Amino acid sequence: MVLKRVPTTPFSDQKPGTSGLRKKVTHFRQAHYVETFVQAIVQSVPGREGATLVLGGDGRFFNRAVVQTTLKIAAANGFGRVLVGRGGLLSTPAASCVIRKHGAIGGIILSASHNPGGPDGDFGIKFNTANGGPAPEGVTEAIFEATKTLTEYRIADVPDLDLDQVGTTRIGDMVVEVIDPVADYAALMAALIDFDAIRRLFASGFRMRFDAMSAVTGPYAHAILEGMLGAAPGTVVNGEPKEDFGGHHPDPNPVHAHDLYDLMLGADAPDFGAASDGDGDRNMIVAPGLFVTPSDSLAILSAHATSAPGYAGGLAGIARSMPTSRAADRVAAALGIGVYETPTGWKFFGTLLDAGLITLCGEESAGTGSNHVREKDGLWAVLLWLNILAVTGKRADAIVREHWARFGRDYYTRHDYEEIASDAANRLMDGLREKLAALPGRRIGDFTVSAADDFRYVDPVDGSVSERQGVRVTFAEDARIVYRLSGTGTAGATLRVYIERYEAAPDRLERPVAEMLAPLVAVAGELAEIAALTGRAEPSVVT
Ligand code: G6P
Ligand code: ZN
Repeated sequence: MVLKRVPTTPFSDQKPGTSGLRKKVTHFRQAHYVETFVQAIVQSVPGREGATLVLGGDGRFFNRAVVQTTLKIAAANGFGRVLVGRGGLLSTPAASCVIRKHGAIGGIILSASHNPGGPDGDFGIKFNTANGGPAPEGVTEAIFEATKTLTEYRIADVPDLDLDQVGTTRIGDMVVEVIDPVADYAALMAALIDFDAIRRLFASGFRMRFDAMSAVTGPYAHAILEGMLGAAPGTVVNGEPKEDFGGHHPDPNPVHAHDLYDLMLGADAPDFGAASDGDGDRNMIVAPGLFVTPSDSLAILSAHATSAPGYAGGLAGIARSMPTSRAADRVAAALGIGVYETPTGWKFFGTLLDAGLITLCGEESAGTGSNHVREKDGLWAVLLWLNILAVTGKRADAIVREHWARFGRDYYTRHDYEEIASDAANRLMDGLREKLAALPGRRIGDFTVSAADDFRYVDPVDGSVSERQGVRVTFAEDARIVYRLSGTGTAGATLRVYIERYEAAPDRLERPVAEMLAPLVAVAGELAEIAALTGRAEPSVVT
């Protein structure tokens, strides 16, 4: 193997965010840009000599080229073996599964999640550590430091490898195993979920639609739902991964997955509808005639988890991100188990999962998962839902209604104000913070503030502290408003306002969400002076 050392000048903008380095494809295509970042990752991995690395991505445009580059850089930096998904594909949860199962030192995942793809779309590179989860801040800091000082990268000067056949080859001393991207993941699902019960369900004529949104979950859903579980052919739609996701946003919500949403709310709805995002970690669940909010889904899965073999022994605890509704808390209280409120971002669940404090966790941003991997997992959530439907023999909408009847309903909505000026957004948040101390006891509209703070999280496992994670205002009427700025936006600032109100009266469980929350929405606007400070009379997106 000829090893090349290529001189490069450092880049100043390769600071990994919550989900690695995410930029426009055009930005990544600058000379040496990918190589520098990948070199920074690999040289920041202590003990890489002879170790195993996992590699794959969501199949978006540029995925194949970066897989080839990464293999060559890994070979030149002493890795012993790389497990790469066939075609360069691995969903994010499958990558987490493969890292854990094969004792890898970590994995490089190529994805920009639910962002659009194609030559003008987005691309991303992220590093996960040996537990299968996103690299903690110490590691991403080390990677960032390396990007700022690198003067050369090392790369094997070899032709591209054939990644479309499962099998083993080499680059110099490094073994490259092209693996079936689905096999390990499917085996893990079969160990956790009652596949026999779901097979019987489908055999009895149960109909579902799974929208893979032309993204990475297609092959997983085809193999598991239609192949292993016997769902009718055609159950999986948009099941062929495309480099540009068919020109769509691969984001599973009522806006971007509207075909599925409309079908499920129409007269010909099948028994169950679900979708997942670009890299397969997010999910959307729709019962016939009823959209299930991610917050409710977490609560419902938690309440019924023991019907699946993987959770038959009960749950250790549940965690939710702070803006996620408190529906899961009510289930935890009934089960007598711990509930943890973490800042937004999947990485905060990692320590709790590793320490065995929680079994299930979820976020309002369409993420649900468990201790089986260290990423959120879209298809897993769908399979656990199917397991529950199969074992209870109940319709999905009935499961939701029974849940509300037993626990009450947390009416929930999120208002997003996208692309507002950053200084206006900061003024708004600062203004709120200044008001916090004076709020408790104050009467606003029909509500009385019972508590108000800027969320500060102390990780119960490692003691690390995260400040200023969102302003939360709680009301005596069992209602809550949360304000935070998005950490994932690319243009200006996005203000997110999360509004929720609990209702337990049996005759008030099925009211229109907007109507139920209108008085609180008015309070949210007044309290933060949203219209005056942002110049926006209405949010840009309401979910
Ligand atoms: C990413 C993370 C999620 C997080 C979400 C929040 O998708 O993987 O864990 O919930 O970002 O996004 P936001 O735009 O609200 O900061
Ligand atoms: Zn994703």
